[in-house]
Amino acid sequence: MDEFIVIPKYEKVINDLLEQQYSIVEDFFSSAEVLALRKILLNKYEEDELRKAAIGNQFNEQIIKSIRGDFISWIDEKFLQEAEQCFFSKIDTFTTYMNRTCFLGIQDREFHYALYPKGTFYKKHLDTFQNDDSRKLSIVCYLNEENWQPEYGGELILYKKEGDVTIYPLQGRVVIFESQLIEHEVKPVEQMRLSITGWLKTRKI
Ligand code: OGA
Ligand code: MN
Repeated sequence: MDEFIVIPKYEKVINDLLEQQYSIVEDFFSSAEVLALRKILLNKYEEDELRKAAIGNQFNEQIIKSIRGDFISWIDEKFLQEAEQCFFSKIDTFTTYMNRTCFLGIQDREFHYALYPKGTFYKKHLDTFQNDDSRKLSIVCYLNEENWQPEYGGELILYKKEGDVTIYPLQGRVVIFESQLIEHEVKPVEQMRLSITGWLKTRKI
């Protein structure tokens, strides 16, 4: 086996996931990476490349506005910009680490940009579907403006037996949680809310 180097940042994620099924990491990506990804998403918005989000995975979609109101753009890894290459190389490192330490068996992934216009939300849900339980870990990285304020709304609420957890979508913040275990919701937003969101999956669909 290759030399194994312990990465404290990822060890904390593992401990958090074991203890509470979710983890919040403020410095998963550098601020330069976050700003570059934010720029790509804003550019897609201006170029009208975002589409109304559906319920389901990228191949089995149903649009139900009363459940979610965000706009998304799936990322095709065959055509990545430089900042996206950096993003996925960190996701690769993290995935390899998780597979080696926790035997997660991650073999695939899907990521999209998401934009919630004012007034939109995503009602309480699980990130797995009846016909597909391959999603293991959900990863959200917020690409919001600096100094996001509580009154802008858009909190991510994680519903846990022990009580609800409220997470503000602060720029650069990464939330990782167990897709099959944690029900969650995005509260109505008062200010455009940006993120890149994805799933590490056990197998291809
Ligand atoms: C999702 C989701 C959470 C967030 O896209 O499935 O729950 O905070 N996103 O954006
Ligand atoms: Mn979700």
